[in-house]
Amino acid sequence: MAKYPVVVYGASGYTGMLIMDALIDQNIPFTAVARSAQRTREMMAQRVVRLESATYEIIEADHSVESLTRAFTGAKVVCNTVGPFGNFGLVAVEAALKAGCHHIDTSGEQGYTRQVRDQFGDLYRQAGLVVAPSTSYMYTFAEIAAELALETEGVDTLETATIWRGPRHSAAGVTVGSTASIFELFRQEQCYLWDKKLVPHAADASFELVLPDFIQPVFGLPWGGTSLPVFFEQDARVRACISAVGFYDNAVMQFVHQVGKKWETEYKHMSKGEQDAVIKHMVDSTTPVMPPRERTTIQRSVDVAIGRGQLAAVRATVHGVTPYISTGVLQAAAAIKLLDNEAAKRGFVSASKAFGHRYLLGFLEQRGLARATVTPL
Ligand SMILES: NC(=O)c1ccc[n+]([C@@H]2O[C@H](COP(=O)([O-])OP(=O)(O)OC[C@H]3O[C@@H](n4cnc5c(N)ncnc54)[C@H](OP(=O)(O)O)[C@@H]3O)[C@@H](O)[C@H]2O)c1
Repeated sequence: MAKYPVVVYGASGYTGMLIMDALIDQNIPFTAVARSAQRTREMMAQRVVRLESATYEIIEADHSVESLTRAFTGAKVVCNTVGPFGNFGLVAVEAALKAGCHHIDTSGEQGYTRQVRDQFGDLYRQAGLVVAPSTSYMYTFAEIAAELALETEGVDTLETATIWRGPRHSAAGVTVGSTASIFELFRQEQCYLWDKKLVPHAADASFELVLPDFIQPVFGLPWGGTSLPVFFEQDARVRACISAVGFYDNAVMQFVHQVGKKWETEYKHMSKGEQDAVIKHMVDSTTPVMPPRERTTIQRSVDVAIGRGQLAAVRATVHGVTPYISTGVLQAAAAIKLLDNEAAKRGFVSASKAFGHRYLLGFLEQRGLARATVTPL
């Protein structure tokens, strides 16, 4: 049973520990939950900044609804980082509901977002609780940009791009959990929103993104479709939303695209067990260990939303640094609102709709993690 109001689940992981950093900065006591208390203690000692000033406990729990319900009970908010969420997410969502906790997570996978909405949205609403997937760099930054564009009267169509840079000529800097989540996307349908309906992308869809922030076009992919078309599907203001993801390093994204094509021809028809083995091999060979803490001189991001109405046209851009650190900060910003009972909606909801895009942007800006510009077109 949790002694403190905020649970960080996946407490031995890269992102879980960054959430702890951000909670400690706000002086919020937390309960760290993971499948190995010993590993969690060791990892936290190595990685969590300001741990000496934290008020916390560690609880070991299996990844099952029963065990997690026991661990979460007593808390108000669960910050869940155990992914790939398509594989592991719903167990923790169910446990948080049973424990009477709000649930926010660091997912981004569209299929999982739809499952949370369809299987748990009403149940959370009836319980007076919030379930807000994807309260994380991807795609809360793009959602903030989209909401800034929607402040222009008449905008009903959104195109978004999420573009990120890690160390030069490699995807290093992506965590083990993120790499697993990226390769899991090949198994899932990826949709965009067109005329109020979710429509599948072609399996080999890609984009040449031309933006004023870059000299050369950026090669992008639907990246599973992103969570945004699902968040905007039931938004009366929006008729269409298409989202792309790119890296500053086009070669790395081209590599992912080639793997996606190979998935379609060679792996798609394998059994789940065989596919699991293929994905495990890909993760082990591309991301063997936990990466170091991000640096503002290296990890930088641009999230853009172009909004269009009949004649209205606007571009909103959020420039950012250190996306994983930003994810920790976004989770803490959301936890503060939930602890204060200040979420604008209950049930299934996006971070911007629950906590306010201006609040989230301000929280990031105050910590030097984001800067937004809005340009009429
Ligand atoms: N959308 C975004 O912007 C964004 C940002 C950050 C993270 N994420 C997502 O968040 C997830 C975690 O990322 P990360 O960077 O923290 O990865 P990570 O460093 O690999 O940590 C993963 C955590 O999940 C736990 N875990 C893994 N498999 C488990 C299982 N079967 N049962 C119970 N716990 C398990 C790990 O525990 P052990 O230590 O015991 O293995 C660890 O605590 C990924 O899905 C990633 O894509 C998304």
